Amino acid sequence: MPIHFDEERGLLYLHAKNSTYVMGLNQNHLAHVYWGPSLPEEMPVHSPVWKLTEMMGSSMSVASAGSLWRTLDNIRSEYPTFGSGDLREPAFHAEYADGSRATELAYVGHTITPGKPAIPGLPATYAEEDAATTLTVELADAVTDLHVFLLYTVFSELDVITRSVRVENRGKETVTIRRIFSASVDLPPQKLEAVSLFGGWAKECSPSRVPVTYADLTFDSKRGHSSAHMSPFLALLPPETTEEVGSVYAMSFVYSGNFAAGVYKDITGTHRMYMGLNAFDFGWRLDPGERFDSPEVAMVYSGEGLGGMSRTYHELWRHHLIRGKYKYAERPVLLNNWEATTFTFTEDDILAIAEGGKRLGVDMMVLDDGWFGKRNDPTSSLGDWYVNRDKLPSGIDGLAAKVEAMGMRFGLWLEPEMLSPDSDLYRAHPDWCIHTPGRDRLEWRSQLTLDLSRPEVVDYMIDTVSKVLDGAAISYVKWDMNRSMSNIGSAGLPADRQQEVPHRYMLGLYRLMETLCQRYPDILFEGCSSGGQRFDAGILHYMPQIWTSDDSDAIERERIHTGTSYVFPPETQGSHVSACPNQVTKRTVPMKTRCDVAVCGQFGFELDLNRESEEDLAVCRGAIETYKRIRHTVHTGKMYRLASPFEGNYTAWQFVEQDGSRVVAFIGNTLAEAAGGYTVIRFRGLDPEARYRDDIGEIYTGAFLMNIGLYERAAEDFGTRLITLDRV
Ligand code: GLA
Repeated sequence: MPIHFDEERGLLYLHAKNSTYVMGLNQNHLAHVYWGPSLPEEMPVHSPVWKLTEMMGSSMSVASAGSLWRTLDNIRSEYPTFGSGDLREPAFHAEYADGSRATELAYVGHTITPGKPAIPGLPATYAEEDAATTLTVELADAVTDLHVFLLYTVFSELDVITRSVRVENRGKETVTIRRIFSASVDLPPQKLEAVSLFGGWAKECSPSRVPVTYADLTFDSKRGHSSAHMSPFLALLPPETTEEVGSVYAMSFVYSGNFAAGVYKDITGTHRMYMGLNAFDFGWRLDPGERFDSPEVAMVYSGEGLGGMSRTYHELWRHHLIRGKYKYAERPVLLNNWEATTFTFTEDDILAIAEGGKRLGVDMMVLDDGWFGKRNDPTSSLGDWYVNRDKLPSGIDGLAAKVEAMGMRFGLWLEPEMLSPDSDLYRAHPDWCIHTPGRDRLEWRSQLTLDLSRPEVVDYMIDTVSKVLDGAAISYVKWDMNRSMSNIGSAGLPADRQQEVPHRYMLGLYRLMETLCQRYPDILFEGCSSGGQRFDAGILHYMPQIWTSDDSDAIERERIHTGTSYVFPPETQGSHVSACPNQVTKRTVPMKTRCDVAVCGQFGFELDLNRESEEDLAVCRGAIETYKRIRHTVHTGKMYRLASPFEGNYTAWQFVEQDGSRVVAFIGNTLAEAAGGYTVIRFRGLDPEARYRDDIGEIYTGAFLMNIGLYERAAEDFGTRLITLDRV
């Protein structure tokens, strides 16, 4: 049974594929007992592990232990609250009508149900009734009648447990929620390190690994979006855990706004790991009878290092998060004009670029920024979503028809969440942007954030985007979002609700995306935020792929794709071949290298192919063929990171078909190596007995590839090898 309550000992067991999570009732307090490898339901009768936790902690609280409630500082809590006697990092903090801030949650009961309920208004993983089981534990505060429901879904075929929290105000007074984390886990005393993914524009997802010390270590975003500065992800692992060996405890947030993840290590060495909405500048007024749902955290336990963690997340998002027509369908190879033209183009230019793509075998032409209003640079027109006929005399419909007549499909760039101060929309509705009254409206890339916390603005955008999509044969939308949120405030909310703006914005955004995804099920949506500044599981629930970075330099992409793959699979990562010298790094790398890197993601082009040499075009043509041959393996298989660009000269990725029939390996080096050294690339996850034939007919056993491996010596700067091995 995936979830079982041992009534005699008061223990709740959640069994995922190869891992177990246990909670225990200590009188009516819900304690955390265990999270790790599968555990049989046999605990010592007289000293259950969780009871031991009562004896630990500071002498002060043990000495004053008059009642259980006063000793919570010593207990591994499942959902710690401020004001309960647990003085560590709380998961929940609220302010009540009388000014008090204490919450003491006591166990009321629990239910176990097949499948997984949706979270109203929020993206979340989903599962068939036989693939997951959900536990809902009800806790309540006797003084305020606040009821807190902890939701846990355990996936039977994956080492995943998702968590979210629902709060119901059954009292008579308004409650203000100040902090509501979705997950908090007290891991027992041990040495742990924290892995996070930090970065910035054109530098997304750089892994960082640091020892956890006796402090509160927080990884967060206060930018109004999940951000490239810190991905909404955190993993804790013992120092000895490697890429493929050892334990990892990981959390990823299914949310696209402000978040906090962290770990608080106390004097006993207990680690409180948490993730949820960022409590900084957050408040939510909950009137009597109202409820609040927190976004979901997906927790993964891996016994196979960071690689095992990544493979679990890849499967979770593939099968239980991404939806719609393109969930499993092969997606088009696309050509985007942005890096070729930026804002300066005519209809003929776009058709000529499309023609170049058509000759090569590209499936879709995407028209990027600059087609609407009077937008010839970033200073105007966001919000004015009607075509600029000076540039495009046939309109979007005419252009789309011409592209379709060429035998390609047509896609369009939109940035629906923004408005330019120089736009008709802003002139008509100057208070429709996020702003603080009486202060300058801080522009970023000359633009302001549309106030999606206001329902009427969301409704307006649903209509506006629908008109664009109804007006032409549009098969794809690149949904961009190019600024962080500042001057947080909304003209649509009273003073005591201003701290709700960032989360209300996300709820508005999700309603907008959900409505459009339902209304246009055949359109492929790709997320973007100046590259990967909002690459998170929340967006993937609506849009199955995301533009990974504005940095399309192949060598940089080896790093960015490696970091992004910690949590997200290759098919979610928009990955295009662009012109050289690269617009961000000014670096020139061989066309073959650019293609080999790009075919390991969601492949496309970001250049005017008419300007490339015949020789390079032949390489690109070959890359499309290669991509179509390997994409099933890359997009649905198991990924192994064999060598990390963050650790040395090489990047190596290996993708294995789920049934083991095909293996694709990418090996890239940064600099050429002088005489002497070789780098050995050892494969993983193969059947040692199986035999594999490579592209030139050489046969290798799985044991050879895993134990002897391939000996690589970099003969040139920025070299790559792409190897396909078929089981014979
Ligand atoms: C962002 C995107 C780019 C491009 C531009 C257009 O920077 O990441 O790919 O679409 O906007 O302005």
